Order: sequence, then C-alpha cells, then structure tokens
Amino acid sequence: MTDPRLQDIGACVFDAYGTLFDVAAAAAHCKDDLGENMQPLAVLWRDKQLSYTWLRSLMDEYVEFWQVTQDALDYSLVVLGLDGDAALRQKLLDLYFELDAYPEVKAMLTGLKAAGLKTAILSNGSPDMLQAAVSNAGLGDLLDEVLSVSDLSIFKPHSSVYQMAVDRLSVPAGRICFMSSNAWDASGAANFGFNVVWVNRFNQPPERLPGDIVTQISDLSTLPGLLGHG
Ligand code: LAC
Repeated sequence: MTDPRLQDIGACVFDAYGTLFDVAAAAAHCKDDLGENMQPLAVLWRDKQLSYTWLRSLMDEYVEFWQVTQDALDYSLVVLGLDGDAALRQKLLDLYFELDAYPEVKAMLTGLKAAGLKTAILSNGSPDMLQAAVSNAGLGDLLDEVLSVSDLSIFKPHSSVYQMAVDRLSVPAGRICFMSSNAWDASGAANFGFNVVWVNRFNQPPERLPGDIVTQISDLSTLPGLLGHG
C-alpha cells in the first residue's frame, strides 16, 4: 500500500553522491595502490568533503565542489601518510570525476520515465563533475534536469537549494519525491517540505535532526513500486 504522501508525485529528485553514484568507487578502484588504507581513505575523504561544504557555507566562502573534493583528498592523504604520491592523487581524482553509478540506477530511472514522472539530480556537485558522472553511467536521456548548487553558491542542506528544484521543475514541493542516501540531506529536504525517501544503503540509524522522512529503502530498485508504478 503506497503511503498517501507518495501517491501523487510529479517529479523524483535525486541526490547524486552516495545516492546515484558510489563515492567509495574511486578508492575501491585503487585497491592495489591503497591496500589497508583503502577503507580509511574512502571514509575520511567523504567526511572531510562534506564538512568542508557545511563549514564553507557557514563562512560564506563558497568554492565549487570539485575544489572541496580536492582539498578533502589532500587533507586525507596527509593524515594517512600518502601525500607524497602525486600519481595516486591524480588517479583518485580522475576516478572521482566520473564515479560509477550503483547497479540498480539505470533500470530504476527507466521505470520512472516510463511512468511519466519528471526526474532530476539536485546536487552539491559542480556541473562538470555531474555531467561527467551522468554521461559515464549513460543516464543523460533518463534525467530531465541536472541541477547543481553552483548557480546559488551555497551547499545543501540550505533551503534555497531545495527551492531551486521546485522552481526549475515547476512542480510544487508537495508533489516532489526526494531521494538521498545521506541522512542529513534527507532530513534537510524533509524539513524543507519534500516527500523524502531515505536510501539507507548502509543500514545507519536515523539522525536526530528536523524533518519527517516518509520512509526508507535499502537501495533504489524498489522506488518505482513505492510510488505505485511497480
Ligand atoms: C550531493 C552530495 C552531498 O550529491 O552527496 O549533493
């Protein structure tokens, strides 16, 4: 039985990193170079990248997500004693620029488009990174919009970012279903007024943050069914 809040959805809006694209894929492809540092690097790189977006937003010191991603990697490489390896740094960045999509993403988007729904990405990512990842995964024809915070110069979870999706898609917040695997982003979007499905890929506990999330799923394969288009 579809939750009443998900019965009249006009547009599905997706977070990019961690939700459609696997942020651990860059480190995973460098497994042989990184050895036991693979997992610590993936985790620290992502954590630093996110904290830098929030801190820069609070400082009113926006730079593109690609710059933040490089800064976070440089910090992480120093912590792990890997900062002397320029070739490894470049390899990780090249891989991050066109991260792998999760395996269920293409079929899921195809299902939503067949049901007549609008689809979009709403991401902290810079436009060039997003285009590279979308095109590498062959998702270009399945997305109506790829929206970047770059036009606003502030990062999620600032409410102006979620408002941009309403404005650009011409669909009211109450008819937008927003998907993120990042619990803080799910919370921000729910607090803004979207109907939020938290893609809880790693079985994490709920954040203690504002925003009423409609439901959670473990990956995106069940989304069309959840919206009554199974
Ligand atoms: C994004 C990051 C936050 O795509 O995952 O916006």
